[in-house]
Amino acid sequence: MTRPPHGVGFIGAGAVTQAIHLPTLARLRDRLAIRRVFDVDHGVARSVADRVGAAPSSDLEEFLASAGLDVIAICSPDRLHAEHALAAITAGAKVVLCEKPLATTVEDAQRIAEAAREAGTALIVGAMHTFDESWTTVREELTAGSSSQRFVRSSIVLPPNERFEDFATEVEGHRVSPGPAHAPQSAAEHGELLRRMILGLSIHDLPLVRQLVEDAEAVTVLDARALQPFGYQVLATAGRTRLEVHASMGQPWRPDWRLEVLGEDVQASIVFTPSYVHAGSGVSRVTRGETTAVHGPFPANGYEAEWRSIAKVLEGTGTAPRLEDLVDDLRFALTLADGVRDLITQQHEESAA
Ligand SMILES: NC(=O)c1ccc[n+]([C@@H]2O[C@H](COP(=O)([O-])OP(=O)(O)OC[C@H]3O[C@@H](n4cnc5c(N)ncnc54)[C@H](O)[C@@H]3O)[C@@H](O)[C@H]2O)c1
Repeated sequence: MTRPPHGVGFIGAGAVTQAIHLPTLARLRDRLAIRRVFDVDHGVARSVADRVGAAPSSDLEEFLASAGLDVIAICSPDRLHAEHALAAITAGAKVVLCEKPLATTVEDAQRIAEAAREAGTALIVGAMHTFDESWTTVREELTAGSSSQRFVRSSIVLPPNERFEDFATEVEGHRVSPGPAHAPQSAAEHGELLRRMILGLSIHDLPLVRQLVEDAEAVTVLDARALQPFGYQVLATAGRTRLEVHASMGQPWRPDWRLEVLGEDVQASIVFTPSYVHAGSGVSRVTRGETTAVHGPFPANGYEAEWRSIAKVLEGTGTAPRLEDLVDDLRFALTLADGVRDLITQQHEESAA
């Protein structure tokens, strides 16, 4: 007998829901069905719900009380993730998928993890590359060498986000521009801007980076600078690992999203498909001595692998990530981003003095 698909509800129906999750779930209809779409903007909720035959809602209580939501996906603005994740856990969702970042503070992330542990809820954070097969295939091999001296580089080069959204769908509702509403004026604003950019972009791959460095709790930011028109370059250490975290966005450059590891006995790169592009997984290359092993591209991209792993959790054939790891991922990202903010603020104060 075939099992009916698991019910999915969305909190927040903006760009990520429309351009990423809807097309992904359309490929998994036999296992996951969108039943409800909640957004404070009722027009957006209705339009998005209509597209997939779901019920719209602009009342959170009503949404949370509706039957048949095995999965609740939190796709609201970052500052609301903790509140919405806690509400979804309390409402009895079996799986909560929270878009990145899990929360804006480690304390909130710990509260969410504690609530999920008590309720037995599986928690997934939408850091899609953690599910991408080009990473999962080489993860054990690469993380096993993290105690050796190595260089790790995370680099994201993207044209403006809207281009990818437009490839995928026609996005209903307002747009969030990647750039600042106004150019930063004070030293503190310069620092905060870079902090937010790191927590918006590099945060996708920082969970992978955390597993590759020698000591994720010993992060020191050595150098940080803003890149024009929109980006940053950061040099840091994490134990004996040297780290470069880079992003450039806003020009019609060819997309290039990669993670690289250079160690005493290994050279590895994973080249990911950019966000919003539904074009299969990344490709990893691991070279030892004269031998290079190439993995990928696999048919599913990270988003599809993320939803497939949610279906497996619901079907009892897969496990969710460890809650402690999700909290540690956020702690690592915040430590790096806070360190960059402090250094940039200090540089601007010194140059103004
Ligand atoms: N994994 C990825 O590749 C990826 C890509 C982009 C964004 N994101 C994350 O997804 C989240 C949403 O990003 P987006 O680009 O879709 O933003 P967006 O601004 O396009 O959409 C957010 C939606 O949330 C709605 N909203 C606002 N307040 C709400 C509330 N109180 N309750 C319910 N809905 C509310 C808005 O009306 C809007 O429709 C962010 O946390 C972002 O970091 C992830």
